[in-house]
Amino acid sequence: MKRIGMLTSGGDCQALNATMRGVVKGLKNLYKKDVEIYGFINGYWGLMREQYKLLHSKDFSGILTKGGTILGSSRQPFKLMNVPTEDGLDKVKSMKDTYKKLNLDCLVVLGGNGSQKTANLLSEEGLNVIGLPKTIDNDLWGTDMTFGFQSAVDIATDAIDCIHTTAASHNRVFIVEVMGHKVGWITLHAGIAGGADIILLPEIPYDIKKVCKALDKRTEQGKGFSILAVAEGAISKEDAELPKKKRKEKIANRPYPSVSYEIADQIREYCGKEVRVTVPGHTQRGGSPVPYDRVLSSRFGAKAAELIKKEEYGKLVVLKNNIVTAIPLSESAGKLKYVSPDDDIVKDAKLLGISFGD
Ligand code: F6P
Repeated sequence: MKRIGMLTSGGDCQALNATMRGVVKGLKNLYKKDVEIYGFINGYWGLMREQYKLLHSKDFSGILTKGGTILGSSRQPFKLMNVPTEDGLDKVKSMKDTYKKLNLDCLVVLGGNGSQKTANLLSEEGLNVIGLPKTIDNDLWGTDMTFGFQSAVDIATDAIDCIHTTAASHNRVFIVEVMGHKVGWITLHAGIAGGADIILLPEIPYDIKKVCKALDKRTEQGKGFSILAVAEGAISKEDAELPKKKRKEKIANRPYPSVSYEIADQIREYCGKEVRVTVPGHTQRGGSPVPYDRVLSSRFGAKAAELIKKEEYGKLVVLKNNIVTAIPLSESAGKLKYVSPDDDIVKDAKLLGISFGD
């Protein structure tokens, strides 16, 4: 009997359930009835606290299209993994103890950067671990695509599409603030897909004067409205040049709810234009996965089942050049995949006339 543990960790996204279904369908086909699935509640928290459910095929039925996660999720920051819980629990030891107590053959971790760092740590501690690359941000190093990303791009694009008509009616400047944490992948893709005039990313610090110049150029061309797709982590050239500590302090103390509101004020001041800000926020992580994500996550799940059957542990399932494959967890752990200003997609966007404010 194979005994497999599974958990979903960190911020949720659309295709978590579809991915778990893929893993379980693959395992059931490879092992027939000879496999037990233990689902840990709320990510690593459940593994630490021995909170789990023994799951059956029927639990994975009808969830391909369902957003969220049937297991629940929580953030357990990697940097605090060696700090005991408030009630004195040794986190790493308690996770290892639960794994051993349940006599698991493998732990499958659906998670983003921090979660995969913990997966790698557990692998180094001797557990059999397989990682599956989850995050709307698409910032996990080693995979061309994470599941959740395309669904988030779809929602952010839809937000920009909806803003387009009202922006045009009122001749206004609109900022749509897009999620993505420290990287600009969702903003870049949704910005291009939604026909944004200006795209501001964390990886390409902006100069507000250049942003205003791009807006004035559109006015000169007789365009009454403009749309900016702004990443939540977008940063000005001025702030990017500050030492890290000072930059963090400045951002934490800025008198705005987020960067978009600061940019909006600056546009009002420097260009005298009417500006509105829209923040789709967590809607970008919600709802049903788009077909691309359903296919990708089902294939990722099948690959995880295959790796378990072959006992190839300590691996992260990835997409590379359109092939679903796997790399060592240690290769990806601790690295972020950023947009590069030299990426073809950025160059193409510039050729289309999109300003990056740089
Ligand atoms: O990592 C996914 C993500 O949605 C980021 O894009 C965003 O910055 C963050 O999570 C929001 O986190 P929380 O759900 O904890 O507010």
